[in-house]
Parts: sequence; structure tokens; C-alpha cells
Amino acid sequence: MMIATDRTLPRVPLAMPFGWYQVLYSSELAVGEAKPITYFDTDLVIFRTESGLTKVIDAYCAHMGAHLGYGIREHAGSAAAVVGENIVCPFHGWQFNGEGQCKHIPYAKNLPPRVARGEQLIRSYPVREINQCILVWYHPDDIDPTFEPPVVPEAELDNDEWGDIKAFTWEISTHMQEIGENAVDAAHFHFVHGTDGIPDVQKQEFGEFTRHGLLKTRNETPRGVIEGFIENISTGPGLSVIKFSGICDTLLLANLTPVHSEHARAMYAFIQKKVNGETVSGGIGDAIIANIRSQMEEDIIIWSRKRYYEKPLLCDGDGPFAKFRKWYGQFIPDRPAQN
Ligand code: FES
Ligand SMILES: [Fe+2]
Repeated sequence: MMIATDRTLPRVPLAMPFGWYQVLYSSELAVGEAKPITYFDTDLVIFRTESGLTKVIDAYCAHMGAHLGYGIREHAGSAAAVVGENIVCPFHGWQFNGEGQCKHIPYAKNLPPRVARGEQLIRSYPVREINQCILVWYHPDDIDPTFEPPVVPEAELDNDEWGDIKAFTWEISTHMQEIGENAVDAAHFHFVHGTDGIPDVQKQEFGEFTRHGLLKTRNETPRGVIEGFIENISTGPGLSVIKFSGICDTLLLANLTPVHSEHARAMYAFIQKKVNGETVSGGIGDAIIANIRSQMEEDIIIWSRKRYYEKPLLCDGDGPFAKFRKWYGQFIPDRPAQN
């Protein structure tokens, strides 16, 4: 029998999933600031209005197509100006609000009818700002949100029990589903990450938009073997909250956002309990973060090169990949991947 791989296919022939995705941390966008960003295979501009609201619209001006994320003259080298609730196009000064309507043309005596009628002229995206993150809803067919992202109390800025965010970012050359599968792949922990044995899966529940997993681990430490737990709750394909307990309680916002269908950006924010009211650095807490970061580097060696098999050759002891893919598949529109 001939065994062949179709090399004309993309490595992971899956379309981009819809859902809520982190695009920035809240601290990365000041009042009156705008930035160009690229996600979902789309050039976008994000801006914070003078009233403090965050808005995301397509990057290209409805007038003649200038990019709204790059300023000119006194704004050269940074983004376009924000005036009140609007962003100002650098090319001819038209102003657009966060709903993509043109609110002002500085030099026209008569407005074009579509402007006068207040029509939406630029696509806009739903935004939520929670957990110190700016989240954007993406759906390829521009369908309104079908679920909401969860508030994580430990990650709220005003909470005094949990410390400051320690943030790390990776660019990963694969489709997000491949990264997500890591959470149900119990066997790889030993081989890729060198953990002691294979973690014991205590729970793996697939809800409507959420997934809830609990792994029990054994950690060799200078104080002997300590049992720990890794609890992992995902809301859609983009947002996960992972809680590590046992040695030093650590909460991780593990957010994944598609830049293109085979390029994901991982934004990981670690939060640990404060000690005497202060964020701790050094010691066992940092060792745990360093360990999780090196696991990420190890996974990336595999992810950035492997191919996706629609029908992998699974064996007893493998994780619940079929259930995972069925759950994940609800977020992937039935259409060919664009590459
Ligand atoms: S291209 Fe934006 S105002 Fe002309
Ligand atoms: Fe892994």
C-alpha cells in the first residue's frame, strides 16, 4: 500500500475559528491613543476615545482607503489622532466613530448621502474590556456574539489579593486548534516536557462554549514529591484560565489569537498571590513561571512543524481528542482554509 502525504495542502487545513480574542492588554492603550493591529487576516485599527471606551474597526478609510492606524505630521511615527469619540483619517481629515460611521468631513459643504444618513461605512468589531485585557469578537460572517467572555476576579486590577500581571508573548506558526489540543494530550507531558509520569486526568467536560479539565500531577521537589492540580477552563477557542495549585498558587490567562489561519499569537499573563500586599518576584513563584514558559518553547518545536491529521492513529491512553475536536469544531465555519 502506498502511504503518502498530500504536500499541496496547508499543514493545517482548517479555517479560523470565531470567538472572543485578546488583542492588547488594557495598559497598552491610553485615552486618546490609536494603534494599527493585524488579527484575523485583517488590518485593523484600535483606539481609545476620550470617554475611555475602546473601539476596533477595519483599518482602511471609507473615503479613499488610507490606513487609519498611521498618523501624519505631528502624529508621524505614531497612530492617527483621536478627537473626542472619533478617529481622524490622516489623509483628508474625515472622522469616524467606533461604529464605523463618518461623523465629520471638515471641508465638504454637502455630505455624501451615505454619510448624511449615518450609514456604517467601515466594519466594526464588538469589544469587551475585562481582566486587564482588551477582547475582540471575531466572526468571519460578522455575526454578533453568541456567548460572553468570563470575568476572572483574580485578574481584575482592583483586587488586592492577587499581584500584578507578568506577561509573555509568543508567535506560533500553526493553527490555534493544534495548540488547544495540548490541554487534552496527557501523554505528551512526559515526552515533550519531561514530567514525572503521565498526569492523571480527573475531569474533562465539554460544555456549550466552555471546556473544563482537571489534571493531577506529581512534582519532584527538594522537599519530596508534591501532588498538584492543573485546572483548565476554556471559553471558546481564544480564552483559557489555567489554575496551578500545590506548590505556589498561580493563575494563568492563556489567550490565543489568530493572526492568520496558520499563525497564532499566544498572550500569557501569570498572576500569583500577593505576600504582605506586594507582588512577589523570585523564589518558587518565578520558578513555576519559568517552567511553564519552557514548556511552551518545547511545545512550539512540535507545533510549528507538525501536520494536522484529520484521522490520527489513536491508541488506548491517548486523551479525548475526538471529543475535543467535536467541541472545537463548533467554532470553525465549514469552509476551506485560506492560506
Ligand atoms: S482617505 Fe481618509 S479622509 Fe480621505
Ligand atoms: Fe505541552
